[in-house]
Amino acid sequence: MGEVDPAFIQALEHRPKPHSVEAQGIPLIDLSPANSPDADPSSLSALAAEIGDACEKWGFFQVINHGAPLHVREKIDLVSRKFFALPKEEKKKVSRDEVNPSGYYDTEHTKNVRDWKEVFDFAVGEPMVMPASHEPDDRELKEMINQWPEYPSEMREVVEEYGAEMQKLGHKLLELIALSLGLARDRFNGFFKDQTTFIRLNYYAPCPIPDLALGVGRHKDGGALTILAQDDVGGLEVKRKTDGEWILVKPTPDAYIINVGDIIQVWSNDKYESVEHRVKVNSEREIFDSLLPQPCTLYDGRAPGGAGEQAESCQVQCL
Ligand code: OGA
Ligand code: NI
Repeated sequence: MGEVDPAFIQALEHRPKPHSVEAQGIPLIDLSPANSPDADPSSLSALAAEIGDACEKWGFFQVINHGAPLHVREKIDLVSRKFFALPKEEKKKVSRDEVNPSGYYDTEHTKNVRDWKEVFDFAVGEPMVMPASHEPDDRELKEMINQWPEYPSEMREVVEEYGAEMQKLGHKLLELIALSLGLARDRFNGFFKDQTTFIRLNYYAPCPIPDLALGVGRHKDGGALTILAQDDVGGLEVKRKTDGEWILVKPTPDAYIINVGDIIQVWSNDKYESVEHRVKVNSEREIFDSLLPQPCTLYDGRAPGGAGEQAESCQVQCL
């Protein structure tokens, strides 16, 4: 094992399989009907039903013809590659700390095991305000203020442009999810006034022990929706609901991977579950994925719809 820190080693039952099962069936959904303002209502409701079905069966789906321009994604991919290629000392100049959760970070742990990754987090709406702690009685707030590295100098412009596109896509998807639950299209819109949406650039370096470690250990996302731009190497594995098998999601060019987070699970009264996923690394190739846990919101309220019990009031913080 050489020099590798034992903090990266997963327990036996959580280690990745060397040959994962590749996804057959994670739905690929064409969003074209949602792109025109005068979409015919029947094609919109067919699309909403398709999304509802994917949320119910998988908690994950991929979207194509989503309306977000490819060049915006290519630019964020490029700045991410430029930034993570910098020497560690350079990257550490914009490290996040106890006070400000925005910035560079390479020591994240998931379920107490260290992830084989480096990340950079940016708030989408600044300043992002969130509770200072998880204590329900703690009324103190803290702010996330973006840190911008000196290099690449275009980072700010590119990240802001990408954030704006992803917000549009996120809202389009939330409207379709509302429709799929039999709710008014704008039912969730009001919950994102004080949102805590952020952009995370993930970098998974080649790993000398890919059978023992994970890029990100198994977890569920805490926000409403997550929008993921996967690169062409891939590594994301999703836990299939039918049998608990880990399924490798095959990258589709220019598609975004969408998954339901814990907030949608609450809002849908458990109809759409937030599903576990993880990232497998490999010994040869680096992986660059960018992520928008979107919109993850500070929300104190109740499940807006569906039959049955109202959900407990909740306050969610995603960092
Ligand atoms: C995450 C995550 C997936 C990826 O950071 O929550 O699931 O492919 N990332 O980077
Ligand atoms: Ni995740």
